[in-house]
Amino acid sequence: MTVTTKYWAAQQTQTGVTEAAAALAAGGVVAFPTETVYGLGGDARSTAAVERIFSAKGRPSDNPLIVHLAHGEEVYSLAERVNEVERVLMATFWPGPLTLVLPLRAGAVSPLVTAGLDTVAVRVPAHELARSLIQRSGCPLAAPSANRSGRPSPTQARHVMEDLNGRIDGVLDGGATGVGLESTVVRVVEGKVHILRPGGVTREQLQSAVGSTADVLSPKDSNSQAEAESVNHTERAPRSPGVKYTHYAPKGEMLLIAGPLDKIVPAVQEKIDEAVRKGLRVAVISCTEHASVYRAETVLDCGPYRNPERAAHSLYALLRECDERSIDFIVAEGYPEEGIGAALMNRMRKAAGGRELTVS
Ligand code: TXA
Ligand code: MG
Repeated sequence: MTVTTKYWAAQQTQTGVTEAAAALAAGGVVAFPTETVYGLGGDARSTAAVERIFSAKGRPSDNPLIVHLAHGEEVYSLAERVNEVERVLMATFWPGPLTLVLPLRAGAVSPLVTAGLDTVAVRVPAHELARSLIQRSGCPLAAPSANRSGRPSPTQARHVMEDLNGRIDGVLDGGATGVGLESTVVRVVEGKVHILRPGGVTREQLQSAVGSTADVLSPKDSNSQAEAESVNHTERAPRSPGVKYTHYAPKGEMLLIAGPLDKIVPAVQEKIDEAVRKGLRVAVISCTEHASVYRAETVLDCGPYRNPERAAHSLYALLRECDERSIDFIVAEGYPEEGIGAALMNRMRKAAGGRELTVS
């Protein structure tokens, strides 16, 4: 089904929010900015709206959606109960890029939202447009990232248009998103905070919020169902259904090269030269320090090595740029894994489909 996708420019946000909220209240699906990435929203209580979200994205139906609220207090309309550790996390990080997986209040949302699970993922975005849209629509909004399944998440309204024009009712343009990577998804089980997906809130921030009352456990990175399941069986750790899918992938093949700043250049240049000899169109995603060093047709500066926030903000747009330039092979430099660097490297590994080389 092809529909006309309305575009509300950043200068007309008043009209945009009013019209988009009306479309959502009427069961439509609309993309909107959050502080992390653009989301594709629909009324979480409406099975018809949620079906449209899944079909517009081409998303597998066993991958549940996050429900977005305007205010933290509304969590009790979705969750059966909230424990002390969860309360602390909400009080500390909402509004903000943290998603909590909570026991579902029966009947609160369409069963499609949770893919039939008895838990529901909830967050309160820290973006004025997002929150006023949710509030004005009067709906809890189920909203996955507003990309076609498997593509890098959109950090600009034009990315949403590239992927979903003709498939959704509208896009509210709020400019480039801030964080640039998705929210951190956590679940608290037996007093431990399990990170199911690293993201905008770092492990260090989570640990400092809960202090000595709870341990924060990092996810076992896994690209395959088998790995995810073995983690699940051996450690009884909860897991996020979404982690088994290929994500964030550019069209070309990507190789991630990690290692110390002063050692990495020769390894990267060697891979570039090798690919060029094979006749491939090559791009390098490089830290600022090395951007002028590489000999390659396309060198994309992802930000200073010691500034993973900047790299997180830029990564998805650069992966899309590689697609626009019909790049066949991307060599990407790794970043330090502290702070948001952990989420950044998680997404880079997924984009590379596990192809990684470590130099020392
Ligand atoms: O930053 C974000 O989180 C963005 C913006 C739009 O808010 N949204 C986003 O949604 O990234 P999506 O659908 O692309 O990712 C949702 C993640 C998936 O990994 C999914 O498996 C997980 O949350 N998830 C949702 N419900 C879950 C549940 N009940 N249990 C475990 N994981 C869940
Ligand atoms: Mg997504």
